[in-house]
Amino acid sequence: LSAILGFAQLLELEQAELSARQSASVQQILKAGRHLLALINEVLDISSIEAGRMELWLEPFDLRDALREALDLTSPIAEAAGIRLEAELPATPVVVRADRRRVVQVALNLLSNAIKYNRPNGAAWLRLGETEGFARVAVSDEGNGVADAAAPRLFTPFDRLGRERAAGVEGTGLGLALSKRLVEAMHGAIGFENRTAPARGAVFWFDLPVHVGAPVNGRQDP
Ligand SMILES: Nc1ncnc2c1ncn2[C@@H]1O[C@H](COP(=O)(O)OP(=O)(O)O)[C@@H](O)[C@H]1O
Ligand SMILES: [Mg+2]
Repeated sequence: LSAILGFAQLLELEQAELSARQSASVQQILKAGRHLLALINEVLDISSIEAGRMELWLEPFDLRDALREALDLTSPIAEAAGIRLEAELPATPVVVRADRRRVVQVALNLLSNAIKYNRPNGAAWLRLGETEGFARVAVSDEGNGVADAAAPRLFTPFDRLGRERAAGVEGTGLGLALSKRLVEAMHGAIGFENRTAPARGAVFWFDLPVHVGAPVNGRQDP
């Protein structure tokens, strides 16, 4: 797969020499290749968690930084999809004890869903708050939400709740299942509710334990 993607990228650089049809084909190879790569990575992550082999590095860090990273990576996708992306982060650090890379991965999953399953020209919000020892990240959108009958199937691997039959919105059906396993392995929780007012939409949230004690990023204040 690395070779397929690598050579397709080389071809992409030769655009000036390719016909319009050829360069459209190169784009198809790249698109399908990236989709397959995401699928493979998610399947490998899920299987390593289920085999009890997932290694997590739990350490204290400012959750706002991890969320800013996820937002930076998502904002071009939101822009391309015509979705307004807004973030509300507190002015002071929210230090959690978790695996930073995995937290970014979970935030990316929720943000990409809020963009994909939104209404045309809709908005998505990411909010960070704190309650009783937990930090809560909530991602909401203005899409149709999740039908009550389908809600129990959320977080089930490969279940796209019927979206696989609708053209256009691509996915593997693994993002939420993986996010749930990751968050729970970090001693947190993940959940969902539908919004009704002022507009329809879904809110997906996850909680992570707030770090208690002094050291942050290995630094220890005297
Ligand atoms: N914000 C959302 N609004 C409505 N439906 C959603 C939302 N997020 C997820 N879903 C539903 O849950 C399913 C599973 O989500 P996910 O595991 O991220 O897989 P994928 O996005 O690859 O389909 C999606 O296919 C979709 O039907
Ligand atoms: Mg998804």
